[in-house]
Amino acid sequence: MNDQLKTLLVTGGAGFIGSALIRKAIAKGYRVVNIDCLTYAANLENLRSVKDSSNYQFEQVSINDRPALKEVVLQHKPDGIIHLAAESHVDRSIDAPQIFLETNVIGTANLLELSRDYLETYRGPNAFRFLHVSTDEVYGDLTLNEPAFTELHPYKPSSPYSASKAASDHLVRSWGRTYGLPVLISNCSNNYGPFQFPEKLIPVTILRALQKKPLPVYGTGENIRDWLYVDDHADALLTIIERGRPGETYNVGGDSEKTNIDLVKMICQILSEEVPQDWQYEDLITFVDDRPGHDLRYAINAQKIKTELDWTPSVSIESGLRNTVKWYVDNHGWWERTSSAIDQRLGTRQ
Ligand code: NAD
Ligand code: DAU
Repeated sequence: MNDQLKTLLVTGGAGFIGSALIRKAIAKGYRVVNIDCLTYAANLENLRSVKDSSNYQFEQVSINDRPALKEVVLQHKPDGIIHLAAESHVDRSIDAPQIFLETNVIGTANLLELSRDYLETYRGPNAFRFLHVSTDEVYGDLTLNEPAFTELHPYKPSSPYSASKAASDHLVRSWGRTYGLPVLISNCSNNYGPFQFPEKLIPVTILRALQKKPLPVYGTGENIRDWLYVDDHADALLTIIERGRPGETYNVGGDSEKTNIDLVKMICQILSEEVPQDWQYEDLITFVDDRPGHDLRYAINAQKIKTELDWTPSVSIESGLRNTVKWYVDNHGWWERTSSAIDQRLGTRQ
C-alpha cells in the first residue's frame, strides 16, 4: 500500500471487476468508497465479505448525476479514484448503444470535471490520482500474425461499446494534458473468474452447460481472446494507482490467447471431471450467427507494466478456469438469482 493513498473512491464497485478490486483493496488496508447506481450487471452480494468492514462504504449514486457525485466526493475526500463504472457488454451495445454513450462517455467526463474541481481544494498528501479502467478493445482487432497490442497501438474501435471506451480514454488523456489532472489509464484484455454476470462467454458456457442447454458459439468459434483472471487484474489496478507514473497508459493481459472454441471445449472438459454426466458437455456446442463487426483477435503485450511496475499475472488459464467452474458449481444461489439473464436474448443469440 502507498502511504499517501488511504481512501480510494471506486466507481462500478458492485460489478464483476470492481467488486474483486474492492475485496483486494480492503484486504490491503485501504478505506474504500464504492459508487455504483446498481444496473442489471451489479450485485451487492459480490461484496458480502467486506460489507461490514469499517473501511467500506457504499453510495448508490450514478456517475451521470453530477450534484450527487460531488456531494460524495466532498464528503469522503478520496486520495484516488479508480473508475470502472460502465456499460460493459458488446452485444448489448449493438442492440442499444445510447446508454453506452451516456454512461461511458458523459459519465467519465462528469468524473473528470469533478476531479478537476476537487483537486483545487484537495488537502491530502498530494498524491491524488485518477485511474481510468479501460479495455484492449479500443485498439480494434489483430490478424492472426500481427504482434500483440502495445500502448502505442493506434485506436480503431469496432463496436459501440469499444468506441465509447475509446472516447472516454481520449477524454481522460485530454484532461491530463490540458488541466494537469494526474491521470492514469489501463487497457486490459478479457477478464474471467467468480461473480461474472452470466452474459459473457465463460459464465454463459458454464451455466448453460450445467442446465444441459445449447452452448452458443458465435460464427466459427475461431475468434481469439487473451484471458486474464480477475484477481490478477485487481492486483494490476492497485499496482498502477500505487506506483504508476501519472500521464501513462499501461496494458494489462494474461498472455493466454485462446480461440473461443478451444476455450469452450476446455470448460466442457473441466465440467466432465467436476460434474460428470452420462452425456457429453461438448455435444451441447452450437454454432450460431456471428456477432456483427466481430473482432477477430485481441492480444496484449504487457511488457511495460511488467518491467516498470513489477506486476505479473499469477494465475494460469488452466487453474483459473478450473477455480471459476468450481465457483459457479458451488454457488448456485448466486447465479440462480440472476439466471433470468441467461435466457435473455443478447446480441445475435436467440
Ligand atoms: P460490469 O458490467 O460487471 O460492472 C459494471 C458496474 O458499473 C456495475 O456494477 C454497474 O451497476 C456500474 N454502473 C454502470 N453504470 C453506472 C452509472 N451510471 N453510475 C454508477 N455505476 C454504474 O463490468 P466489468 O466487467 O466489471 O467491467 C468494469 C470495467 O472494466 C468497465 O469499465 C469495463 O469497460 C472494463 N473492462 C472490463 C473487462 C472485462 O473483461 N470484463 C476487460 C477490460 C476492461
Ligand atoms: O477485451 C476486453 C473486453 O472483453 C471487455 O472490454 C468487455 O467489457 C468484455 O465484455 C469482453 O468483451 P468480449 O466481447 O470479448 O467478451 P464476451 O464474453 O462477450 O465474448 C468473448 C468472445 O466469445 C467473443 O469473441 C464473442 C464470443 N461469444 C460470446 C458470447 C457471450 C460467443 O461465442 N458466444 C457467446 O454466447
